[in-house]
Order: sequence, then structure tokens, then C-alpha cells
Amino acid sequence: VVDIGKLYAQTGMFTYDPGFTSTASCQSKITYIDGDAGVLEYRGYPIEQLAEKGDFLETCYLLLYGELPTKAQKDDFDLRITRHTMVHEQMARFFQGFRRDAHPMAVMVASVGALAAFYHDSTDINDPKQRMIASMRMIAKIPTLAAMAYKYSIGQPFVYPKNSLSFAGNFIHMCFAVPCEEYKVNPVLSAALDKIFTLHADHEQNASTSTVRIAGSSGANPFACIAAGIACLWGPAHGGANEAALAMLKEIGSVDNIPEFIAKVKDKNSSVRLMGFGHRVYKNYDPRAKIMQQVCHEVLAETGHHGDPLLKVAMELEKIALSDPYFIDRKLYPNVDFYSGITLKAMGFPTDMFTVLFAVARTVGWISQWSEMIEDPHQKIGRPRQLFTGAARREYVGIDKRG
Ligand code: ACO
Repeated sequence: VVDIGKLYAQTGMFTYDPGFTSTASCQSKITYIDGDAGVLEYRGYPIEQLAEKGDFLETCYLLLYGELPTKAQKDDFDLRITRHTMVHEQMARFFQGFRRDAHPMAVMVASVGALAAFYHDSTDINDPKQRMIASMRMIAKIPTLAAMAYKYSIGQPFVYPKNSLSFAGNFIHMCFAVPCEEYKVNPVLSAALDKIFTLHADHEQNASTSTVRIAGSSGANPFACIAAGIACLWGPAHGGANEAALAMLKEIGSVDNIPEFIAKVKDKNSSVRLMGFGHRVYKNYDPRAKIMQQVCHEVLAETGHHGDPLLKVAMELEKIALSDPYFIDRKLYPNVDFYSGITLKAMGFPTDMFTVLFAVARTVGWISQWSEMIEDPHQKIGRPRQLFTGAARREYVGIDKRG
């Protein structure tokens, strides 16, 4: 590892690294990935164990504080999160300004950014207490805003949080309950969603997390930083990939059409990619994808969608891709998004909510990384250099003399 900052100060040399494929922008103690071995650990704990044995709020505590909570710490943390689930009633009016057909991610970027306007008492980034209150507020309120975005889009009244439910159970309740009817959250679906949230909670310096860190490096308030992260997550090469993977499975339609589709992917002149495949860091099976595949089967069995033709297409596509030299040579394996779209669809979420659910889960990762950055004595404002390739100096020519 070379400290390029020091090298630059001594020699004026700097690196050209588009996409930061080989540049570490920070030191971090939060998440470890070994992309070649397919390993993902939060604070040293393997993702498989956390998804299997813990719950999402326990993972939130772990990411924020660095250790798993004791029973008393966990109870206190759960209580503190549930105390913050409501949003200001003015927020409901803020929502009325959006078109009904607005993409919920657009609503999320705006409404999370707007939280800063409501909570002036937690925007001083130099005060650790204010930082923690802002963190709690966002972990608790972003699911409420996400459910409101969904309810608004379908013209139903907002459903208030039910704090006796688990984090995932409450989210399902706010999305699918209607005020005039009894609604009971399905425990299988709530357990599945809890796992999905855990799988997406953090992933070191991905594009949206780096966006949050860069925004935060200027001293911007935490609500604005997380809104920036949500905007970045929206892109189809990042959080929008599960929506794109599901659209691709629908486009393929049946197992018989797979060879023709794969031929298009392999065609050098086409820009078609196998969505839900490949990863910048994993050059082996994404460990989250294995758990996601299992969750997908559980949810489809519970909701009676087990014969879903899209699942058949997905499984066959995976089988073919894993034995095809094109994908093997490029180390392209299914990523977490490959099965999450089918799973969320079976749970009843519309496709444009998929990335929103990702944002709900990733909020804790963004906040943990942002806090770590603020506390890091080496932290500097993010200010990449460029390799200038434009025109050399030339003299201004008056408009009447330009040919
Ligand atoms: N399908 C087909 N070919 C692919 C795919 C794919 N999904 N991904 C990469 N390749 C090929 C490229 O065409 C390239 O081939 P070449 O060497 O013949 O030119 C080679 O693999 C390397 O591709 P890069 O784009 O350089 O790889 P990079 O690491 O930059 O891309 C990315 C990673 C963006 C995730 C890419 O694999 C992709 O677009 N995947 C589909 C979108 C997706 O699923 N994104 C979700 C990521 S996970 C997440 O955000 C939670």
C-alpha cells in the first residue's frame, strides 16, 4: 500500500484511477470483504451468521457501535429506535406536492433531505450526542418515509408505525395495512425481510457509501449526506440492479428464450448485460446471493408463487451462466440483486419500491461509515484530482472574428 498523499507532497505525482478500482479512500473498521474468496463480514462477524442467528436491529447496533449488544443494550436500542419512528405531520403535507406517479426514489431523496429542515437540533456534526440522535432518527424514520412514498403512490392513507412490531414487521405493516381493516403481518415474510435488510446493511466503500462520505467530508449535515447516498443508490448499476434484473427475467420470459438472450449478452457489439450478475469486488459467488436464493425459495413457498416462471428462468439462467466460459473467464457470478427482485415481488412490493427497500436497509451502513469518517483524525475533504485532456491555452477571439 502506497500513501499517494505523501508521494504527491514530495514529488507532485498522482494516480489516474477511473472508478477508483485500486484506490483506498479511507481506513475503516466496519466491513470486510474478500472478493476472491466470497467473504463478507460486519465488524468481523460473517454475514451468514448474522443473517441466520441475529436480527436486523442487532446488526444496526453492531455496525454503529462495533460490538454485538448485550440483552439490556439491545432492549434499550430497540426502544430508542421505535421512539423515533414517527415523522412530523408537516411531512404528510410535503408529500402532497409530489405527482402521484413520482418514482418513490425521487420522493425519498427529497423527503430524507428535508428531514434536516425539521431537526435543527441534530445537525451539529461536531457534537457526538447530536450525531447519535440524527443516526437514530434516520434508521427509524426512513422506513416510515419509504412506506409513505408507497402509500402515496397508490392513493391510500398513510399508516402510522406500530412500535410493538419488529423493524421489518412494522415496515410491512406500514406498507400493506389499511386503516379500515384488520391486518396481521405474516411472520415468515417479516423474518425474510429482516434477513434481506441484514444482507444489505453495509458493503464498505461502494458508490453510494463513497457518495455519503464525500458529501460528509465537507461538513454537510447527516440528513443531506444520506439523501446524497440515496440519489447515488438509485442508478441501475448499483441499487437499481434488482429492478433491472427482474425486468430482464420478464423480458426473457421463458427458459426456451435463454440461449438467444445469452448470445446477445456475449455479442461484443451489444451493450446488453446479465443484470444481477457481476460485481466490482466479488470475483467469486457473492455470499449474500446464496442466502438470498434461500430466502427467495422460502418466500415463494409461503406466498404460493413457487411455480413462478420467472424463478424457473432465474435458476436456469444461473445454471447456464455458471458453466459458460464467457462468464467463468470474467468471474461473473450472481450478486445479491439477482434473486431479491423475484422475492420482493412475491412479497407484494411493486418494482419501483425495490431500490427504496435497499435504501431502508443501507441507511445504517451509510450512517456508520459517515460517523466513522467524522471521528477519523485523518479525514480530509474529498477532492479527487483529474487528468486534464482539454485544449491547451489559447487567446480569446471576438464573436465577429470566429470562423
Ligand atoms: N453481464 C455481462 N457481461 C458483464 C457483466 C454482466 N452483468 N458485468 C461485467 N461484464 C463484462 C464486461 O462486458 C467486461 O467484459 P470485457 O472484458 O469483454 O469488456 C468485463 O465483464 C468486465 O466488466 P466491467 O464493467 O469492467 O466490470 P466492473 O467491475 O466495472 O462492473 C458491475 C461491475 C457494474 C456490477 C457490472 O458487473 C454490471 O454492470 N453488472 C450488472 C448490474 C448489476 O447487477 N449491478 C449490481 C451490483 S451489486 C450492488 O450494487 C448491490
